[in-house]
Amino acid sequence: MLGIRLKVPTSSEWIKVVLNDFPSFLNDHAACERKASATGLNFVVQYPDRTELIEPMIQIAREELLHFQQVYTLLKKQGLQLSSDERTPYVNKLLSLIRTGRDQRFLDRLLTFGIIEARGAERFGIVAENISDPELKVFYQKLTQSEKQHHEFFLKMALKYFSTDEVELRLDELLTAEAEIMKELPLRAAVQ
Ligand SMILES: [Fe+2]
Ligand SMILES: [Fe+2]
Repeated sequence: MLGIRLKVPTSSEWIKVVLNDFPSFLNDHAACERKASATGLNFVVQYPDRTELIEPMIQIAREELLHFQQVYTLLKKQGLQLSSDERTPYVNKLLSLIRTGRDQRFLDRLLTFGIIEARGAERFGIVAENISDPELKVFYQKLTQSEKQHHEFFLKMALKYFSTDEVELRLDELLTAEAEIMKELPLRAAVQ
């Protein structure tokens, strides 16, 4: 079956950077969840005629908002505050690949956000495996499962509105570009 299979795994050095500065990671993670929730709602606002995605996108927005709340609770417990917003270089570079034209843009947005979810799921899994705090371990295990379903959903939506050939071709191009972006960007104590 067609799936979003990342072309390069995360470097084994990344988790060391994260565990060295977990507060920064947690802060970035909170921002990612909040933005993912907003993305779900943006799809609803921008594509009201694509009725098959409305309810699942509202559901995704709710799940991401719940994740945001959960991460915020973890931050608070550690005596940390939310920090101000910044777009990460990874997301900026990926979003710059989105083409213009209503249909092309729609397809690229679905696939790009699917790839962002897939990378998130991979990395939350790495955190779950390597973190020693039992509460955080369970939290990141559950999150990994949830984010996996999200990337599968974005791909499913793409296949609902576009042919398999078109989706496969564009997904492959975007995954190749994502692998290049991954290789060139420095490792950060952040989700990406
Ligand atoms: Fe999430
Ligand atoms: Fe997600």
